[in-house]
Amino acid sequence: MGQTITEQILGDHLVEGELTPGEEIGIEIDQVLTQDTTGTMVWLQFEALDLDEVQTELAAQYCDHQTYQFDFKNTDDHRFLRSAAGTFGAYFSRPGNGICHQVHKENFAAPGKTLLGSDSHTPTPGGLGQFAIGAGGLDIAVAMGGGPYYVEMPEVVNVQLEGELPDWATAKDVALHLLGELTVKGGVGKVLEYTGPGVENLTIPERTTITNLGTELGATSSIFGTDEKTKDWLARQDREEEYVELTPDEDAEYAETIEVDLSELEPLIAKPSMPDNVVPVREVAGEDVEQVIIGSCTNGAYEDILPGAKMLEGREVAKKTEMIVAPGSKQASEMLAREGWTAEMMAAGVNFSEATCGACIGIGHVPASDSVSLRTFNRNFEGRSGIEDDSVYLCSPEVATAAAITGKIVDPRDLADDLGDLEAPGLEMGTKYGPGMGESDPDIISPDEAVDDGLIKGPNIGDVPLKDELASDIEGEALLKMEDNITTDHIIPATADILKFRSNIEKLSEFTLSRVDDTFAQRALDADGGFLVAGENYGQGSSREHAALCPMFLGVEGVLAESFARIHKANLFNFGLVPLTIDSETYERIDQGDDIEIVDDVGKGVRNGQTEFTVRVNDDWEATAHLDASERERDILAAGGKLSWTKQQHDSG
Ligand code: F3S
Repeated sequence: MGQTITEQILGDHLVEGELTPGEEIGIEIDQVLTQDTTGTMVWLQFEALDLDEVQTELAAQYCDHQTYQFDFKNTDDHRFLRSAAGTFGAYFSRPGNGICHQVHKENFAAPGKTLLGSDSHTPTPGGLGQFAIGAGGLDIAVAMGGGPYYVEMPEVVNVQLEGELPDWATAKDVALHLLGELTVKGGVGKVLEYTGPGVENLTIPERTTITNLGTELGATSSIFGTDEKTKDWLARQDREEEYVELTPDEDAEYAETIEVDLSELEPLIAKPSMPDNVVPVREVAGEDVEQVIIGSCTNGAYEDILPGAKMLEGREVAKKTEMIVAPGSKQASEMLAREGWTAEMMAAGVNFSEATCGACIGIGHVPASDSVSLRTFNRNFEGRSGIEDDSVYLCSPEVATAAAITGKIVDPRDLADDLGDLEAPGLEMGTKYGPGMGESDPDIISPDEAVDDGLIKGPNIGDVPLKDELASDIEGEALLKMEDNITTDHIIPATADILKFRSNIEKLSEFTLSRVDDTFAQRALDADGGFLVAGENYGQGSSREHAALCPMFLGVEGVLAESFARIHKANLFNFGLVPLTIDSETYERIDQGDDIEIVDDVGKGVRNGQTEFTVRVNDDWEATAHLDASERERDILAAGGKLSWTKQQHDSG
């Protein structure tokens, strides 16, 4: 039987298991990436594992989430990351050089290779034919040490693209269309593989916008095959020799096929506060807009910013609206500047930010209270912009610019009709990239150019906390009962005042779930153990392992939820927290404050492959909870987490 692109790449990298959907497989990792908020723990874990040199073909450390230097903490951490990259053999991308996915795509992403990254949007270079997965930091540390990465073999879904995008519809609308149809859970356990005649009508920046947003569908990864456009794009980055041809076999079998006719798409927008709350722009036209931001790892390429620049030629940003451009990389900034577009946009009233995640996680450019902000980002979770009563819409750069011109949400097709001289900018590829590329980029320090003499740990660099082996009895209070779709932003907010603590877990844990209940951290500490209870899709969002690490530090023993998001569930195993699935009836019956006991010897049950556990509530009634875990995950849980388990493996091996 023929193979899909996913099966071809995974088959080439398979070290354990079989490519059967739902079965755990171990794959060899070619490249890893990490960023500053997750990277500090990654390197501390790498060190704690007694590893001394990166074993993957390539590792890259980016500084993109917290690039502003409010006090010594971010600077200290960046210096530590530079010293760790140099010491252990990774590339280091300096703060301000850009967002990990954009910079990695430009410099290192290669078709047919596997990439593991401690950031949930790692699948972005799937648009170039790289098989890329987001994972927790500890998984990155182990992979950098040469260990396989274990993941459930996903189902491969064929997204068959037909036709060509009409004027004013963009790649962002392809992704928003899928989000509206499939929801934020629609891709769970799946890889979305894009095929069909419509693919050749999409450029690489357009494809990577689509693969970036696959994360919002909950997909394990998203991928396109390669073609002349891929080859051309790599050549523009001076990396043509890295091109390999990737196409599905003619008789490849997919679990499912979803057809999208590009020619039928129109400008779409995700309303507050979920990326799948999608409607046509025309349905929300007329809303006043106070802020517009173009950028992020979704739409931060030169080609994403240029359409807005063209639309603004001879025009101005509306007086009551603020428009910010935050390029995804310094390469994009530099190209815009060299071609004069930066000056043109500034003259039209646009402010430029450094190439950083920044506003995407509420670090800078926080919207005014109770105001509408239109962003070209990938997430609009409530409060993520840095203010609780935010009203963030997600859209294409074209829709964002149309709003900046009028001060209101407007379908750009209607704006073009009104103005008479506004043409759809289309997507024009940059003709000149660089000068910084690969090892010649002054903002990327290669392992050979390491500038530090060993690890530099300032006072903001903490230790790696460890958990004891899984006890035989687990009992405690239902410390917090939560709804569906609790995100990692709810568990540990990614705002500047919080994430700067990165490896100071004691301090960071004070903020655990504070956005749901600000008494939680103290109550958890006082209770000395207990459970979290949640509805569907618990842990949606980022790969932030702090969302498991901090509850662990506070003494949480396990999570009872109706379902879990993939990366977060892996992180729960990695930090020794038991993820148990309950049915909706049990979820409804459990109240916050109830006494929960997992009956019988849990430690033994976990080790012995037990899948059903009895949950006794208030010594009054019982229900069944399920543990869906591979043998390896059970061993990790029993050992008290992946760090202890990996050390045990090394000691015994
Ligand atoms: Fe950064 Fe936001 Fe992307 S935090 S990595 S720009 S999702």
